[in-house]
Amino acid sequence: MPAIIVDPVTVALFGALGDLALRKLFPALYQLDRAGLLHDGTRILALSRDLGEPAGYLERIEAALRQRIAEGELDEAVLARFLARLDYLGLDFVTRDGYQTLAERVAPELPVIAYCATPASVFGPICEHLAAVGLAPRTRVVLEKPIGHDLTSSRKINDAVAEHFPESQVYRIDHYLGKETVQNLIALRFANSLFETQWDHNHISHVEITVAETVGIEGRWGYFDKAGQLRDMVQNHLLQLLCLTAMDPPSNLAADSIRDEKVKVLKALAPIRRETIAQHVVRGQYGAGYVGGKAVPGYLEEENANPDSGTETFVAIRAEICNWRWAGVPFYLRTGKRMAQKLSQIVIHFREPPFYIFAPEQRSIITNRLIIRLQPQEGISLQVMTKEQGLDKGMHLRSGPLQLNFSETYKSARIPDAYERLLLEVMQGNQNLFVRKDEVDYAWQWCDQLIEGWSSLGDRPKIYPAGSWGPVASIALITRDGRSWYGDL
Ligand code: BG6
Repeated sequence: MPAIIVDPVTVALFGALGDLALRKLFPALYQLDRAGLLHDGTRILALSRDLGEPAGYLERIEAALRQRIAEGELDEAVLARFLARLDYLGLDFVTRDGYQTLAERVAPELPVIAYCATPASVFGPICEHLAAVGLAPRTRVVLEKPIGHDLTSSRKINDAVAEHFPESQVYRIDHYLGKETVQNLIALRFANSLFETQWDHNHISHVEITVAETVGIEGRWGYFDKAGQLRDMVQNHLLQLLCLTAMDPPSNLAADSIRDEKVKVLKALAPIRRETIAQHVVRGQYGAGYVGGKAVPGYLEEENANPDSGTETFVAIRAEICNWRWAGVPFYLRTGKRMAQKLSQIVIHFREPPFYIFAPEQRSIITNRLIIRLQPQEGISLQVMTKEQGLDKGMHLRSGPLQLNFSETYKSARIPDAYERLLLEVMQGNQNLFVRKDEVDYAWQWCDQLIEGWSSLGDRPKIYPAGSWGPVASIALITRDGRSWYGDL
């Protein structure tokens, strides 16, 4: 029996035949069912603009599940139970027609989770119509990113939602917050006094946050070209990682206590003005190259590409947080598509000891680093200095890891996908892992100034070969400070 009890709900999934729903949301709901975390009374109402026969659509969802769920995790009995929870309704999301039927199809009195796996332009109309048919008081609205493409447009969307739903009923997804290791950041920092007492400019010299992907645009050129890597990854995932790394200890685990601390970090981010943008930010775009030994096209040669596009697929930023804790500590952020390796990690570099007594030629290896690995091989590694063993080694130093690899250490425990965690949290009405409106605002505000700076300078992104670690300028960005990106091969 699972250790937690989850009450019954109706999940009204808008965009149920879209890529996200078929790839992530249905498999996540299936996994929750398999883990015994869906109440017997929980039902899923798949909503899509396709108005055809329901049976055909349910078959499509089943086929997607069979394709996505790993063989050892596909249990026919659970699958049958899960499919029996599904119902389908074709609906034009933006007009009122059909919402009355929706209201009749959801279980009376139970909470409704309105999951909007749709473009943000329809969040407002969906909320308006749900309210019009009387569902607002018992509905939690889940909003997928991206919320707008700048501060003005995101405010408009959030305001349209707020007309019908208070913030306490709105769950904005950033799927990075559902990743196990990201949640572990809170445990690591605030359950280990060892780290928290060292967590400031007195002990830490700099921090790196890397989110590198080997994939390219994967048929999403239309969306991606309007967004670019800054809007797609930095505005949300990287800034959330930065906030969780840099925030002050919250006074408790309540959603707003954590979110208040994150907002303080966003507010303290130093603006990067047009005059300094070239020293602090690098934009790149991948050219043709090799990933995993396979030749891949450049961004401008991808299917349906506009060959003149100046959209960035890589960003590196030297950010600073203007507060007492982090004064003078650079946070180097970088993220890109078609990079050498799929890798998401946070590296905390501790300062050198104040006085040095070992052989001078070994000085450069003396450094403690804490590496928090989000993917792949989730885990934590603390790089420490020890003496080499052996009679002939004298006081010869060596740097080695104290390592905790979650998947190897806790072999029996499967690491859940981020969406499983996030769906479970919404079902429990817990907003901890969701982004509050003011976080979105401040994150956009900071990103908007970068976008404005770029467009006023009119520079094109720097080309890097697919399969590399990004443009040479991103190496220069960190070497100018006498440092290098950790672990680049
Ligand atoms: C999404 C972005 O939010 O995150 C994608 O829109 C990106 O472009 C994806 O590929 C990366 O997520 P993950 O979990 O694979 O690191």
